[in-house]
Order: sequence, then C-alpha cells, then structure tokens
Amino acid sequence: MSVAAEVCPDKRVAIIRFSNPPVNALSKKLCTRLKEAVASAQQDASIRAILLMSGEGLPFSGGADIKEFDNPPSRDNAEVGPLSLLIEEIESATVPTVACIHKYAFGGGLEVALACHYRVSMPTALLGLPEVKLGLIPGAGGTQRLPRLVGWEAAVRMVLTGDPLPSTEAHGIGLVDAVAKGGKEAGAALQEVALTVVNDPKTGCHRRTINFPVPSNALNPLETCQTFAKKAGIKVEASDRGGEAFQGALEALAAAALPDPRRGLDLEARVFNRLLRSEQSKARRYVFFSERRVASDHHLGLRGDESLVEIRHVGVVGGGTMGAGIAIAFLDAGARVTLVEVTTEALARAHEVVQGIVASRVRRGLMSAAQAAVWASQRRFQGTLSLGDLSETDLVVEAVFEDMALKKDIFRRLDAQCRPSTILATNTSTLSIDDIAAVTRRPDRVLGMHFFSPAHMMRLVEVVRGQASSTAVVGALAAVIKRMKKVCVAVGNCDGFVGNRMLFSYQKELQLMVEEGADPYRIDKLLFDFGFPVGPFVMSDIAGLDVARRIKQQRQQRKLKESSTGRGNLSSERDSDVADKLSESSGRLGQKNGRGWYRYDPAIGKGRTPLPDPSVQTFLENFRRSKGLTPRNPPHTDKEILERSIFPLLNEGIKIIEEGIAKSGSDVDIVWIYGYGFPAWRGGPMYYAEHHVGLANLLAGLNKYAQKYPCCSHFRPAGLLQDLVRKGQGLVARL
Ligand code: NAI
Repeated sequence: MSVAAEVCPDKRVAIIRFSNPPVNALSKKLCTRLKEAVASAQQDASIRAILLMSGEGLPFSGGADIKEFDNPPSRDNAEVGPLSLLIEEIESATVPTVACIHKYAFGGGLEVALACHYRVSMPTALLGLPEVKLGLIPGAGGTQRLPRLVGWEAAVRMVLTGDPLPSTEAHGIGLVDAVAKGGKEAGAALQEVALTVVNDPKTGCHRRTINFPVPSNALNPLETCQTFAKKAGIKVEASDRGGEAFQGALEALAAAALPDPRRGLDLEARVFNRLLRSEQSKARRYVFFSERRVASDHHLGLRGDESLVEIRHVGVVGGGTMGAGIAIAFLDAGARVTLVEVTTEALARAHEVVQGIVASRVRRGLMSAAQAAVWASQRRFQGTLSLGDLSETDLVVEAVFEDMALKKDIFRRLDAQCRPSTILATNTSTLSIDDIAAVTRRPDRVLGMHFFSPAHMMRLVEVVRGQASSTAVVGALAAVIKRMKKVCVAVGNCDGFVGNRMLFSYQKELQLMVEEGADPYRIDKLLFDFGFPVGPFVMSDIAGLDVARRIKQQRQQRKLKESSTGRGNLSSERDSDVADKLSESSGRLGQKNGRGWYRYDPAIGKGRTPLPDPSVQTFLENFRRSKGLTPRNPPHTDKEILERSIFPLLNEGIKIIEEGIAKSGSDVDIVWIYGYGFPAWRGGPMYYAEHHVGLANLLAGLNKYAQKYPCCSHFRPAGLLQDLVRKGQGLVARL
C-alpha cells in the first residue's frame, strides 16, 4: 500500500497516486494516508488543483475493503470512519479536486470520485455502486450525492441494480465530466483531460456535489424512487424475500431530498450500519467471496506453472436445447464455433435458434446490428454434418441425447479424428465421466462440462473431473468459463455430480409427501416463500416431466445393474412414481405442451404462467386410491413440509463434501445458488445448514425423520455431520 504525491510546478497541480494492489481497495489505512496527502497538498499556495489517480496499472478503486466490514462500528449511529473523513476532506478542499478514473471506480471508490469536484475517466472505464449485491447500500454518501449529480432515474437504476456503467454512458448522464482519448498511456491521457477540465474558466472549487439541488418531482421522494425502479424493470424484493438492501437503498435515496444534506448522510449511514449487521448481508458477503474462491487457481489445484491451452475454436456436437445455447455461450466468449448435427433439418433448427437469440439481443439493444453480423458470421459460427470437421478444434463439447452407448460412440470417433491436444467434454447430466473417458486414448483430456438450461444465460458450469482428468485441462476450461462471464465449480464424478445429486434427494422426498396427501401447490408456495424463484413442481414443469422420467429410468437401470453385481442395494429404498405416472397417464410433458403439474394457457404470460389444474387433483386422488393410500389426517404442517424438503438437500450436500465430490461448502453453495436458485441471501444450502438451522439441529431433525422413515436413505445423517456436531466444529467459514 502506498500514497505518493507529486507536484508539477509548471502546471501547478498536485498528483496524488495511491496503490493498494490488486484492486486498490480503500482500506482504513489507505483512506487515512490519502486524507493526509490531500490536506498537505492544499498547504502549498501555488497548487491550483489536486488530481487523484491510481498507481500504475491499477484501477481507480474496487471500493472499501470488504474484509474490514466484519468489524462494524459498535454504536447504532454510524461512527465517522476513515472513508467518510477522506470524502469530507476532498469535498471541502479549497482547490478543485479531480478523480482520474482508470479501469473502474466501484462502491467506495465511486463515492470518493463523487466527492471530488470533477471526474474524468478512460474510455474503457466502468463506474458502479454494487453494494446491493452484498446486501448493503453505499454508506459514504453515494445515495446522497448520486441523485444530485445525475437525477433520480439514473441514480435509482445504478444503486438498485448494482450494475456498472461504461464511461461513455456515465459521461452522457453527467456522472463523468470528460472522457480521455484512448490510445495513450492511461496516466498521461487522464492528466491531459483533467487539466483541460480544471483550466476551463467556469471551473471552481465551489462545485461540491453535496450542495447541488435535488431534482424536484411531483411525487414524494420515496414514490419517485419506487416509480423509477418499476420503470427500469427492477424487481424490488420484499425484506423477507432477501430484499432488505433494496428497501434500505430506496429509503436512503429518498432521504437525499431532505433539506439538510447532513440528515440524509446520517440516515444513509444508519441504514448502512443496520444492513452491515444483518444476516442477509453476511450471507451475501459469504457468497461474494465463495464465488471468487471456488474459481481461484489455488482452489482448482493449479500451481501457476502449467501451460494452459487457450480455447479459441470449439466444436459442439448436438444442437438441441443445450447444444444451441452452449454454442452461443462460446461465441460470447469470443471463440469460433463449429456445430455438428445429424441431419440438415436439425442443423437448420440449431441455426435458427442461434440467429433468433442474436436478433432478440439486437431488438433489446444488448447488441448492435454490426456486432451481431460479426458474431454469427460464417467465420465465427458454422454448422456441419461431419465430426471430421472438428479435427483442429481446441475443445469439443458433446450435447447429444443422454444415452451412454451414443455418447461412447461419439467419443470414440472424436478421439480418432481430433488432434491429440483437443479436450473432449460431455454435457451429460448424470453419466459417468470415467466410463466415457475409458473409450478414448486421452482420458486425461476428458471431462464433464455441465451447463444449465438455458446455457447461454445460466451462470453456472460444473466442470466434472474424471479420475484421470489433468489439472491443466481443468484450468483451461476454467479460463474459458471466465471469458463467458460464468462461474466454474470443479466437482468430482458421481451420479448427478453435485447439483443434480442433491436435486434427486430433494425431489424424491417432495413426491413422497404428495403421495401421503400433501398438496403440490402448497409445497410450491412454501418453497417460493422460502426464497426459491419458483416452487419445485413449477421447476419440474419447466425442465419437462418426460426428461425427468427418462433420467430416472436410466438411473434405476444403472442401480439395478450395480445391485446385481453387488455394488448397490435398491431393495429396501422408499421411492415414489407419482410424477412418472402423471406424465405417462395423461401425456403431460410440462410447460412445453401446456400441461404438467399445472396448466399453461398460451394467452396468459406467453404460456409460461402456471395455473392450478383441477384435473391434477383428480389424478392425485385416483393415484392414491390405486395404491391404497389415504391422505394423512391431520395434514402435514408447514414446518414438516419445509424440513422434509430442505433437510435431505442439506444432508446430501454434506455427504458430497464428505466424499470429496465437492471440495468445500462454498462449492456446494455456489452450485445451488447459480444452478438451482437457492436464495443467495440465505448463503446457499451449506451456509444455511450451519448459520440458520444449526448443525446440531439438522442432525436431530434428520435422526427424527430417519427413525420415522427408515427406508429413506436421504434422512440418514452424513457421517461428516455427526463428526462435526460431536467435535463442535463448523462446515463453512462466515467469510
Ligand atoms: P435434445 O434432445 O434437445 O438435443 C440433442 C440433440 O443431439 C438433438 O438435436 C439431436 O439431433 C442431436 N444428436 C443426436 N445424435 C447425434 C449425433 N450422433 N451427432 C450429432 N448430433 C446428434 O437434448 P438436450 O436437452 O439438449 O440434452 C443434451 C445433453 O445435455 C444430454 O446429455 C442431457 O442430459 C444434457 N443436459 C440437459 C439439460 C436440459 O435441461 N435439457 C441440462 C443439462 C444437461
């Protein structure tokens, strides 16, 4: 960490450069040193302006040091911390202060820039207030200065989405005063543009953002903010659905309209401190660090001296639901894609899907027409009927039907036709990577690359290591996943890997409760209220009841085979076939044919809104009767439904860690947050198990249900859970 002040006597400016690699985090120490530097620069009467600039190669600032958040001020009223003192010093300076923004100014970094009298930036720089993503709000004046500078609408969008703005857009709304010219060394370019700004005769140090008038509006300030949030399509969740930070942000933004800015700043600080101590923010901060931890080289086992193949040309085999989306994800990562299908019709369908998605991005302004033309041009994206056209690729991802014989055949042929360095990956949901790798002569270069549907949108990719998979190959996949702006979690090989294996336990118990008489719509409502984006039966409809049935049949066949060879035991396990019977008996496939656990009407919500279906209730009555089951009386309580849904999920996650399939609780949590919609504000299933349920309570709960349902292996507590409780140890770290 360093702060260096340099005075350019000819230009009469002081340049204060600050460095705290890697992200120039505004630690308490750095803030104190910077404040001293700003104060001392003003002592020199010859100085006309102060430029604040990051040290060479560093971003302006990634914000406050989040690790220091763990020691929040003890008083309910915010203590004035070093960041706020620095901001006061900068804003009250007697000469103009200019923030020179290189790379990015996020969170506290942007709040420092907002307190400067002027802001200039490099054309590639990003500016944002991402605090809501950590369950917080800007706590050093961001919510008070931003509306004064850019108006309510832009301020609400920036604070509530947490998404950064590119430099040019920031310039357009008045957040940045001037953008430097590209093509020059950043320091020199920023200095040049900053000097143009301070040499402008209109420029004076009186330009203090906090004293700007607040734009008036016919509505009251809170209503104004709510209206703009709605207009921007921002879903402001209620506090009890993870929305404490969103509600806090609205409250603080509205306070910017108070006549005395001090009162607004005080209110913002109070809300910030309240959120800092909240369980929702603690959980979100854990998720923030977990996401970075699981994809780090160290966590992936990379030493740093491996030579990693750069993935530039990718083959995708199978252009159905997954393959087309996977092709788009690789195009987004800047790779060239060759897609292989079996028939010209199937190829044309895949092309249509890809072109359709590009067109919709252009329509929604997410991509320019020129970008789209390059992106899906023949040079970048090609279709073929021949696997031979993949011979020169760096990576092939297979996404054909979930059929072991078919997949083995394709891998054999790929192995023969691709150059030896090509990495071969499968998008299988459940099949063994080792069995697939065994048919090739390159098992070290064979892995699972498990995308989630829709593959071009869902952020998670499970990279499944086989026994022989090399770490360098995992590293190469992790690098391309990062280019896709997705999250890579490396997991071990087992039935369903991490995500689907947990899903199987969860779904099994849900169906058993339906057999006993629980209403699927009530279960959905309870789990929606728990925080999932949709209930599990809606989710089954989206994924397709036929798909689930096929996967289940295959898994059962495999298990039967294993039990006949003495490797498994099926006989005593309790299971339900209610979902299979629902789809078999009345041709219900889910959302895709408008009939599943719910009915779907094309005229309502584009055919995606789940509507209760009385014929499902009739089916359930007949189903139970055919099995000689009578609905339980008294019915299940909410508590029982929630425990029997969530506990097997938590237990399976702990078993997965115990077996080494996942390396840590963070891996499991990231998989379930990004792949299955587990509420991030609850920290993911493992964090939830430890910090909300409590490991001892979970163990007691599992034991209770294991005794009641001895034929349900998903209630038998993981050995690791028993160990941890016995030793009084935890499963995941708080941060
Ligand atoms: P799909 O049925 O939509 O598409 C499969 C495609 O493979 C079809 O277009 C078919 O023409 C093509 N194909 C079949 N044999 C081929 C061959 N020899 N050469 C080239 N193309 C061939 O299936 P979907 O849903 O895309 O699934 C593909 C894989 O992804 C499966 O292993 C599945 O388990 C897995 N998966 C599916 C997810 C989903 O939500 N649908 C999620 C994650 C994984």
